[in-house]
Amino acid sequence: MYWLLVLQIVVACALAQQKLPSYIKPCSTKSPDFLKCALASANEAIPHIVKGDKSLGIPKLDPLRLPLIEVEQNNFKLSLKDVQIFGMRNIKATALNLDPSQFDATFEIENLNLVGTHHTDGKVLVLTLQGEGPANMTGVGGTYRVTAAVTRYTKGGLEYLKLDKPKIDFTLKRAYFQMDNLIAGDQKLSSDINQILNDSWQDVLKDVGAPIKETVSAIIESIVPKILDKVPEKEIFPE
Ligand SMILES: *[C@@H]1O[C@H](CO)[C@@H](O)[C@H](O)[C@H]1NC(C)=O
Ligand SMILES: *[C@@H]1O[C@H](CO)[C@@H](O)[C@H](O)[C@H]1NC(C)=O
Repeated sequence: MYWLLVLQIVVACALAQQKLPSYIKPCSTKSPDFLKCALASANEAIPHIVKGDKSLGIPKLDPLRLPLIEVEQNNFKLSLKDVQIFGMRNIKATALNLDPSQFDATFEIENLNLVGTHHTDGKVLVLTLQGEGPANMTGVGGTYRVTAAVTRYTKGGLEYLKLDKPKIDFTLKRAYFQMDNLIAGDQKLSSDINQILNDSWQDVLKDVGAPIKETVSAIIESIVPKILDKVPEKEIFPE
């Protein structure tokens, strides 16, 4: 009896989500227009994905909530807590290159805005910062290129795809930083520093831009594996 139940659950799970959700149009890999089709399909699916998909376990993405983003580089430590990320509803895929072992896609996000509580400790430019308070970062006119190795594995006799941790490169037309209380207890100095962060945004981005990368990486990782784990390769990329 017990084993019958287990068997039923296993079969039910195996049958669940074998197909792509209806808002993702599969594109034939044999078609000469495959990449064009895949790019169009991605852009049609994005507004649906951004709303979240309970059946696939994809959270709502605008705003997306991340409990913690932590980055550390050189002499600088920054953590952002209770982060809300706005702007994903305007994401557009602008280039896509899919080969059997490499995922390579470029996205544009007009305004990617992170709001949370920062804890800062370390040097930015020549300033030594140590404090905690509300933080607001915005990346304007961003182009984000996501590359990741693709591997294959077999599950229940079917081939599935798996994406390695993605590498993100991005450029922004402008970034805005507002981080309160960067020097614990000194309101005036903190506000002068925000002026400096704002004016020297390109240099600041080198130290403080890492959370943006982490965010984009977290977004990709909260969508792509949810689909790839459940839908076999031949459903996503039929011949
Ligand atoms: C964050 O900053 C942007 C502009 O830099 C502003 O439009 C937005 O209202 C701010 N958000 C919060 C929650 O303060
Ligand atoms: C930030 O810089 C922009 C122009 O680069 C300026 O218009 C704006 O007033 C500045 N904001 C702060 C808070 O310094």
